[in-house]
Amino acid sequence: MKKIAAFTGSILMVALALAGCSKKGPEAKGAKGDKKVITVGYAQVGAESDWRLANTESFKSTFTAENGYKLIFDDAQQKQENQIKAMRNFIQQDVDYIVVAPVVETGWETVLGEAKAAGIPVILSDRQMKVSDDSLYLCWVGGNFLKEGRDSVIWLNDYLKKNGRDSEKLNVLLIQGTIGSSAQVGRTQGITEGLAKNLNYNLLAKQTGEFTQAKGQEVMESFLKQYDDIDVVFAENDNMAWGAVDAIKAAGKQPGKDIIIICFDAVHETFNKMMAGEINCAVECNPLHGPRVDSIIKTLEAGGTVDKIAYVDEGVFDEANAEAMLPTRKY
Ligand code: AHR
Repeated sequence: MKKIAAFTGSILMVALALAGCSKKGPEAKGAKGDKKVITVGYAQVGAESDWRLANTESFKSTFTAENGYKLIFDDAQQKQENQIKAMRNFIQQDVDYIVVAPVVETGWETVLGEAKAAGIPVILSDRQMKVSDDSLYLCWVGGNFLKEGRDSVIWLNDYLKKNGRDSEKLNVLLIQGTIGSSAQVGRTQGITEGLAKNLNYNLLAKQTGEFTQAKGQEVMESFLKQYDDIDVVFAENDNMAWGAVDAIKAAGKQPGKDIIIICFDAVHETFNKMMAGEINCAVECNPLHGPRVDSIIKTLEAGGTVDKIAYVDEGVFDEANAEAMLPTRKY
């Protein structure tokens, strides 16, 4: 199944090559028709957010022995060099597939080239890579971060209109994710382009909170010291928004009322905070990629083809629908 001489750049050809070879040794499909175990190395970003924990759980509960897999999981602690090291370990261990959620977009060519030379297909999940030659990876599945950013500003425009505030001048702050990650790049672009279309919005500052609650709180504390009149805060993930909520409360203001809070991910705790009126809007980012990657691998193993790029559908939630939606939410 593995050991394709080199990726061809065509998914169809890769799929045919995948289907045409089979792994030798005790794990191969035996004479009695035992199923082959597929070894998958997952180079995970880290454990920086509740979204990330749900994503890890999705992989661990999908890539099980019962489902025909051996999963080798690596937590890179938000460091690209750790992810590259993990990928090299996976290559050394001769895994059947490498799955990677890249911390940042750039800097992957060398290690992808090594995987290609070893004939190991690389599947990207969650965040994207920017590479000169996209035949270096097989395919990608994840959320549309640019659209998420755009949706957040569309929500703000509608909200202000509904509340008769659409002619107000508003001071806006942006707490960004890990700089250089496709989640940050896409959301920042969507948000800033959306804000620039309306002269009532004044973007005071943007700063990274590295997708963690502690850093989000720290950044919000410093914003509160620098600016007296803050109307809107965008936080590029839930956890940073929770940190911002704590900072705003500690400063004696009411999050969700004195300051409109908009964030991304939409995990359970954010629904609780929307129901409590502390967060106004959450744009969904779906972390349940385990079954999606499983389905890609099963398709390839069966000799089928997969889409190079597959976006997941995602919604927008707010105080108005949080209570009704919470029971339907899986993370
Ligand atoms: O790449 C997805 C982002 O990474 C999520 O928004 C964030 O919570 C996570 O850490």
